Amino acid sequence: MARFHTYVFSPLLLLISVVIIHPSYGEHLNSKDLVEEVCRHTSSHGYCVGTMIPGPPLTAEGIASTALGWAQIRALEAGTIISNLLKDSASANHPHHYRVRLQRCWDLNMKAMADLWSANNSFYSKNIKAMVNYLFTASHDTKRCQTLIRGRNLTGLASKNYDIIKLSEICAISTKFF
Ligand SMILES: *[C@@H]1O[C@H](CO)[C@@H](O)[C@H](O)[C@H]1NC(C)=O
Ligand SMILES: *[C@@H]1O[C@H](CO)[C@@H](O)[C@H](O)[C@H]1NC(C)=O
Repeated sequence: MARFHTYVFSPLLLLISVVIIHPSYGEHLNSKDLVEEVCRHTSSHGYCVGTMIPGPPLTAEGIASTALGWAQIRALEAGTIISNLLKDSASANHPHHYRVRLQRCWDLNMKAMADLWSANNSFYSKNIKAMVNYLFTASHDTKRCQTLIRGRNLTGLASKNYDIIKLSEICAISTKFF
């Protein structure tokens, strides 16, 4: 729990605390309304609705497992992209710091993956508090990679990272409707 205090200014945390004010009223909503309600509390309503609809999962647990599963896939894809970029950077005449930044992103992606997999385990053992913590650190580490590659025309990687960040947020917020 200590690491929560370190990042107390995170918008994700702020949003989560906003959602806590309105505890689970998900049961009264139909599937589409539930997605809408979860998305209303995220930082990117358009992204959230566009990702979770059509074919909205039936419950808040369904939204969580869908978003988490997709975040795990995006993290694997980001890892593949970074690995290929690192291979290319060895042959092409990229400056040294380009490779260093990619290497840092690789480490951060490994950490994010470990946290997303731990989040999945916590979800299945119904330790929702731990799951939200893992989602938060996965998102935080992915944001650090985004900062490292900013302005470097690595749009493929940036877009996978963006998905990881947003899907982790959707997953965390959906837990307030369990
Ligand atoms: C998530 O955890 C469950 C239960 O441990 C497991 O069956 C499932 O394969 C995991 N999914 C992923 C994508 O890791
Ligand atoms: C960005 O990368 C793409 C290929 O990955 C390339 O076609 C394009 O010219 C690059 N843009 C800039 C501004 O470097």
